[in-house]
Amino acid sequence: MERKYDFIIIGSGIAGLFFAQKIAELLPDRTVAVITKKRETESNTNYAQGGIASVMSGTDSFDLHVADTLRVGAGLCHPRVVEQIVKYGPATIRKLVDIGVKFTVSRGEYDLGREGGHSTNRVVHAADLTGREIERALLAACRRKKNLDMYRDTIALDLITYLHRGAKRCGGAYAFSEKKKEFSSFYAPVTMLATGGIGQVYYHTTNPNIATGDGVAMAYRAGARVANLEFIQFHPTALYSPKQKAFLISEAVRGEGGVLMNSAGVKFMKKYHPQKDLAPRDVVARAIDTELKATGEDYVFLDISHRTPAFIKKRFPNIYKECLRRGLDITRKPIPVVPSAHYSCGGVMADLHGRTDIEGLYVCGEVACTGMHGANRLASNSLLEAVVMADFAADAAIEFRESQKFPEVPPAEEWLHSSIPRMSDRIVISHDRREIRRLMSDYLGIVRSSDRLQMAHERVKVILKAINSYYLCQPASYAIVELRNIAQVAELVIRSASRRKESRGLHYITDYPELNDDKWKRDTILKPPGYKAARSKHGKRR
Ligand code: FAD
Ligand code: SIN
Repeated sequence: MERKYDFIIIGSGIAGLFFAQKIAELLPDRTVAVITKKRETESNTNYAQGGIASVMSGTDSFDLHVADTLRVGAGLCHPRVVEQIVKYGPATIRKLVDIGVKFTVSRGEYDLGREGGHSTNRVVHAADLTGREIERALLAACRRKKNLDMYRDTIALDLITYLHRGAKRCGGAYAFSEKKKEFSSFYAPVTMLATGGIGQVYYHTTNPNIATGDGVAMAYRAGARVANLEFIQFHPTALYSPKQKAFLISEAVRGEGGVLMNSAGVKFMKKYHPQKDLAPRDVVARAIDTELKATGEDYVFLDISHRTPAFIKKRFPNIYKECLRRGLDITRKPIPVVPSAHYSCGGVMADLHGRTDIEGLYVCGEVACTGMHGANRLASNSLLEAVVMADFAADAAIEFRESQKFPEVPPAEEWLHSSIPRMSDRIVISHDRREIRRLMSDYLGIVRSSDRLQMAHERVKVILKAINSYYLCQPASYAIVELRNIAQVAELVIRSASRRKESRGLHYITDYPELNDDKWKRDTILKPPGYKAARSKHGKRR
């Protein structure tokens, strides 16, 4: 099936939906399609709890928010990018409110939460269900647009690229619907990749199943550079509940007085950082890792039971209910928690307008690496970056679309017309997926070593080679598509981590425990095979 649109957007989280509704609103005569691989709401965004960081009170300032972001980013943030995003924060919150997002208000003002690494309260939230409220409002806005089509249960397989006056261009994406057993070629002059994170590359993660790094893998295969993928953020406090789906216990719980303690009841964070439980995330996650290794236990505790039940139920209704459903009353007992892979600070290299190395290909949200987060993301800066980028990228993409003819249609992907007989081997696929994810959790976790990185790399390269050889012989399925992407992203994460011979932010390696500004105060950039720097203005970034 061939489909033509002016704009296609891959992903229906905060980044993709904000971009889509803005374009559809500003250009009612242009056509917009959103492709998303599961239900429209299924995204990291939908599970966001804490909120959006923004300067909203008289006692806060842009300088403070910028300084907190830079300090937590451990020397690798791009200050100009940080300044622009932070300054745009209040306008962003207003735009979300205008679209219909209802944030929690207390005595006529936004209720501002506190999270790790922030020097003041600045997190705008909707109780502890901020992401769900944002998804609801953005989806409603998209559904009101007559020129916007939503393709749910449709997975993008690869980007369509071709040469235009010597420069690589993106002309859309190939997609597949498992439910309909249907392949489609989506052709468009502008493709926005807003596929979110890579958490599922790890066995223990706060991310939902959709977060398989598809965007990073697709962009790299298409010829775009990726950066800083060694900086994987582990959230310190995922609920320890090994037999059930992962569940996050928001950092906002510590912002409201929650305290970490070991099984002996010792409040250990004072040993590790002056900001104690509200230290930056890398420090807290490493502290918990150290405590667990010292005691041999599987989890530590987070206690908020000293606050009143009424307060806990009002401020954290979702966390309270979900823990109760799993048999734990958090108003009475401490919560067993463990660090889990949560966020990728790295991704596809992009400027603040989402422009990548490939003309016509834009990225925004967690899939992108703009330089905002450096070596460690400040809590609740992700949703902020995603909306600001989507907003700026929409302006850039509109300008690009209006200056272009429709792309010449390149031939369809090999897989679509392949005559190779196809055999299904689900066992191999699920085995490889499990093996990579376990290996990443065991060898590429909070504390790394050169030996382990090398072992992991050898193994992942072998698995990736095998997957690439059997990929086209398999009947198309989400499982094989995601496996290939998980393997590709795992390889990129390991390669990035192996390059950086120092410890900085989220990358802690025992062989090089010190920071080395002289040699390593720079981004880790991986170029795809055959990469050529784009000649056009569009492709020049950062
Ligand atoms: P997502 O919201 O993940 O959306 C990606 C979309 O792409 C999904 O719709 C997915 O189905 C789709 N997709 C992926 N691959 C394909 C494909 N191949 N084809 C078609 N569709 C595809 N950040 C904060 O700032 N504040 C918070 O409070 C906060 N809390 C969090 C809590 C949790 C539990 C988690 C997991 C993350 C949290 N984060 C938070 C991080 C933040 O939620 C994410 O970084 C952000 O939502 C990413 O938005 P996005 O639009 O880039 O991607
Ligand atoms: C949380 O609520 O702890 C998540 C915040 C974030 O990831 O920024």
